Amino acid sequence: MDHRGAAVKEGLSVGVRALAMGVMGTVLALVAVLLLRAATFPGPEELQRWGRPGASRIPAQFSEAELTAMKEALKEAIRIPTVAFSSENINTTALTEFGEHLRKVFPSMFSTSFIQHEIVEEYSHLFTIRGSNPKLEPYMLLSHMDVVPASDDDWEVPPFSGLERDGFIYGRGTLDNKNSAMAILQAMELLLRRNYVPQRSFYISLGHDEEVSGKHGAQKVAALLKSRGVRLSFIIDEGGYIMNDFLAGIKKPFAVISVSEKGSMNLKLQVDSTPGHSSIPLKETSIGILAAAISRLEQTPMPNMFGYGTEKSMIEQLAGQFGFPLNIVFSNLWIFGPIVSRILEKSRVSNAMMRTTVALTMFNAGIKVNVIPPTAQATVNIRIHPSQTVPEVLDIIQNIVADDRVQYHVLNAFNPLPLSPYDQEAFGYQLLRRTIRDVFPEVSVVVPGVCVGNTDVRHYANISTGLYRFNPVSLSPESFKSVHGLNERISIQAYETQVMFLFELIQNADIEKVPEPHSAVHEL
Ligand SMILES: *[C@@H]1O[C@H](CO)[C@@H](O)[C@H](O)[C@H]1NC(C)=O
Ligand SMILES: *[C@@H]1O[C@H](CO)[C@@H](O)[C@H](O)[C@H]1NC(C)=O
Repeated sequence: MDHRGAAVKEGLSVGVRALAMGVMGTVLALVAVLLLRAATFPGPEELQRWGRPGASRIPAQFSEAELTAMKEALKEAIRIPTVAFSSENINTTALTEFGEHLRKVFPSMFSTSFIQHEIVEEYSHLFTIRGSNPKLEPYMLLSHMDVVPASDDDWEVPPFSGLERDGFIYGRGTLDNKNSAMAILQAMELLLRRNYVPQRSFYISLGHDEEVSGKHGAQKVAALLKSRGVRLSFIIDEGGYIMNDFLAGIKKPFAVISVSEKGSMNLKLQVDSTPGHSSIPLKETSIGILAAAISRLEQTPMPNMFGYGTEKSMIEQLAGQFGFPLNIVFSNLWIFGPIVSRILEKSRVSNAMMRTTVALTMFNAGIKVNVIPPTAQATVNIRIHPSQTVPEVLDIIQNIVADDRVQYHVLNAFNPLPLSPYDQEAFGYQLLRRTIRDVFPEVSVVVPGVCVGNTDVRHYANISTGLYRFNPVSLSPESFKSVHGLNERISIQAYETQVMFLFELIQNADIEKVPEPHSAVHEL
């Protein structure tokens, strides 16, 4: 996926430091009233017990032989170059090989009576795992097998070698997203070998063209399930992480579960004008008119939507992790919101979280040095904030350009995804939160975020309202850059932890609903 999840990054740190210096005076003046508010802000909540009623829990303990096999299976998956060059050009030989690899390393997934395996559109995989309690609404674990291209140049090890070095497995797909495809099946394979039978049914789906839109994979799987009348309680895909060292002022790692993702529009702007000889030019040409329009677009940012998406909840929930005075500032956005949003928009990453962005990506005009071209065209790539829609954004753009000679052609567009619920009763969100707390005790807080890129789960909006994007891996800003970049790698320990996370999550999902906050507290 592109420019994933991270809602927050190194850029945010700049803003945070500036804030720390800038707001001191104001803070002191308001301190009494605000301390009172901060004190009433929710603290670390009580832990509730999520168990498997009527069944004993299977401990996440794996033998040395299992750990070795786990690691080797991932390396082999990395070596299969399932590259998606474009939607018309995906290495289908490699995709077929990948399917054979799955059969070899996860035999129980293909031979268990309550699991059905289907191939969709030749290369995507859909597993249906029938639980013993048909009253529980099923869910889905989602990931993809295809990867973006990588050339050998500049990598420390060849990108499709799956080499192990210093405790890391290197290669394209180790984070995006073969780690998930393999870990999901690996966790279930290990559970099956321990005679686990789930109570809640679930699906596992591995798409084959996520990097080039998911139109043949995820979209077809979603349509197939819809035609069967399937409704899913929630879906977990990639697109959020455990963030390590992303924010100055927060020492402990925190987890971001993306509950929405931005919309997208590719828009072509075109100006036609009278062609002619350059020796007798008109006052304005198509190139000049379009260049001025595009320049206005670049100079005029779209409105700041801070407070209309999840960015405000995110900052508020992180507030307690900051020292004085930032904890006070961030837990009182009712007063500091405008300053905080001004400062956050100075960083490219946090700016992309709080507004629709417009990137000028193509500009074409002219064929000969002495001919005035009849037409000029430019393409802009727009990423739409969750609180806006395609028509609203198009309207704002036309108002900014404010020139009737410019024509607009929407090449393709989709609206942002609705915000998935993240309240106390939201089963999928609370399940993730609970499992994060179990498996990553070092995580200080779990916060909702927005994915600024796009991922396969958006194709499932018609069959579920609980779309969550979370890859249970701890990322530093440096490893974040390796996704679609150089030297993508995962530590062996991180991969083992990811398998363990899924092993626990699948068992945690067997509960009927989110436990009452207070009922089970005394058990701990
Ligand atoms: C496609 O995959 C096959 C099988 O793994 C591999 O041999 C071949 O080199 C790949 N082709 C490209 C263009 O990457
Ligand atoms: C959802 O269903 C509607 C109506 O059937 C369809 O137009 C739309 O494309 C579907 N959305 C997705 C994401 O598949």
